[in-house]
Amino acid sequence: MCGIVGYSGGQSAIAPLLEGLRRLEYRGYDSAGIALGTASKLFVEKRAGKLSNLEAELKGSLPSAHSGIGHTRWATHGGPTDKNAHPHLDNEGKLAVIHNGIIENYTQLRAELEHRGHSFSSDTDTESVAHLLSELRKKHGGDLAAAMREAVTLLRGSFTLLAIHADAPQTIVGVRRNSPLVVGIGKGENFMASDVAAFIDYTKRAIELGQDEVVTITPEKVSITDLNGIAVVPKEYEITWDASAAEKGGFNHFMLKEIFEQPKAVADTLLGRLSPSNQIVLDELRLSTEEIKALKKIVLLACGTAYHAGMLAKYAIEKWAKISVEVELASEFRYRDPLIDSSTLVIAISQSGETMDTLMALRHAKAAGARILAVCNTNSSTIPRESDAVLYTHAGPEIAVASTKAFLTQVIAVYVIGLYLAQVRGIMGNDQVKELFNEMSALPSKIEQVLETVEPLRKLTRGFAQSTSVLFLGRHVGFPVALEGALKLKELAYMHAEGFAGGELKHGPIALIEPGTPVIAILPTGHDHGLDEKMLSNIQEVKARGARVIVIADEGVEVTGAEHIIRIPTTPALFQPILATVPLQVFAYEMAVTRGNDVDQPRNLAKSVTVE
Ligand code: F6R
Repeated sequence: MCGIVGYSGGQSAIAPLLEGLRRLEYRGYDSAGIALGTASKLFVEKRAGKLSNLEAELKGSLPSAHSGIGHTRWATHGGPTDKNAHPHLDNEGKLAVIHNGIIENYTQLRAELEHRGHSFSSDTDTESVAHLLSELRKKHGGDLAAAMREAVTLLRGSFTLLAIHADAPQTIVGVRRNSPLVVGIGKGENFMASDVAAFIDYTKRAIELGQDEVVTITPEKVSITDLNGIAVVPKEYEITWDASAAEKGGFNHFMLKEIFEQPKAVADTLLGRLSPSNQIVLDELRLSTEEIKALKKIVLLACGTAYHAGMLAKYAIEKWAKISVEVELASEFRYRDPLIDSSTLVIAISQSGETMDTLMALRHAKAAGARILAVCNTNSSTIPRESDAVLYTHAGPEIAVASTKAFLTQVIAVYVIGLYLAQVRGIMGNDQVKELFNEMSALPSKIEQVLETVEPLRKLTRGFAQSTSVLFLGRHVGFPVALEGALKLKELAYMHAEGFAGGELKHGPIALIEPGTPVIAILPTGHDHGLDEKMLSNIQEVKARGARVIVIADEGVEVTGAEHIIRIPTTPALFQPILATVPLQVFAYEMAVTRGNDVDQPRNLAKSVTVE
């Protein structure tokens, strides 16, 4: 939450700062601001609302500056107003700070600083840091990095901070604790940002920063120290995707582009995972055969959409690998004394790799002795870095706030883990693994087939735009799909939407059905336990009470009671969610478009949730 960018180089700073903020706007869009490194006094502009408000304000003549910091905000402390927008300044207007995260002890800090004569002009936790740094910089004879090192020892909470001072405007100092910050190394220019996307147009060389590391950039130099001022050897890496991946590529919205990228994302995530001798290749797991056989339990930790991927993993891993699986909302996990030890494998699923709830749950599990595997889409983010092992999904950058391609690849990744565990534990033979893997490999072209129906699906959706509430029904793996469909609709269309297990209807939710209520039902694949027939009965039950029923069903299966049928290609039951989710993504997308909502940046949300 909150996007941060810093630039120091030879060109005018305004372009890299604003382009960087545009790329980071997915992280928060309540307000935006910049401070330009102009001598004697900084030039600062900030505005409530989206980046475009700030850009409009910056039209006209700007002072010449070759350095600066920029911020796009997801409000925590203090409402989304001009005065609470970052950067925040010291009383001389010479030092500016931007911040992502929360300073937990800011009330006490503020009281102390006010007592010492500082006057505050915002309601934020961040402003305390600007005043604190101002004091400490004087104490350290104008050394901003030294001031930052001492300031950090006085702060509690999670933060990335960048600071600039008018007396040495080409020097930008940053620090991170439990919040992301990466450095971009250019030629005669250097960058800092929450995410490499901010500077991908300028350089593909990046440095990851560890906890409590303080970094200083000037046009020529990047220096990193720990809090004692001891130099840290930089860990440089190459960014493997290019700027076009972070552009809309002819689509009206990133979300639609990302929906259409799903066949490739799924194929890329499967690439190289089956050896010619039909062994699942998963060297990343870094567990010996003995360790895998000794595992007693798997615990999946995730939030939101990633949690739904975790729910699906339970069906697959328990069926294939015959090992008990628990799925936990990461935000709840550590508050109930979970029973985990060294015989537990914890899988943390996160697109961003920065979700604070998931990170905290992971740390709790690690402290209890569990082995941690991250399933993540973002290279070198915090969750993989703090895990024992990582399996990267290959969805590419996901910019739209609502997760689409990341979800499908998360499901694929956890299914690959399931097959691997089944094979290593000797529960599944190579032929069976090969057969299932081949079915998974056929999914990209089946998703393509679903995508061919996008236009009729959009038309169908528009017919329901006046509804106030939509219910989603699923059974077995269709249940997490129903939850995912409802979550997408809530976050994008701002409609009441709920997902239910079909069997639960009669235990209460059926009372929600009124004449005309849209119900989207996912018909289970095959006749296992007669679930398809049970769902058809559920459809009749809601229809009898006036619901307008849309059914998602495999090709060729007879469906009764539906007003509309959305056909998806047939695939084995466990893989059906990969196909059935796609029409639900399109439904939510189109509903948001029809209602005039901001599809890529829905209200109140942010892509990377770095607060608990
Ligand atoms: C919904 C959505 C969120 C995320 C959740 C976890 O469309 O995107 O529910 O799935 O915030 O985020 P990650 O996967 O980054 O940990």
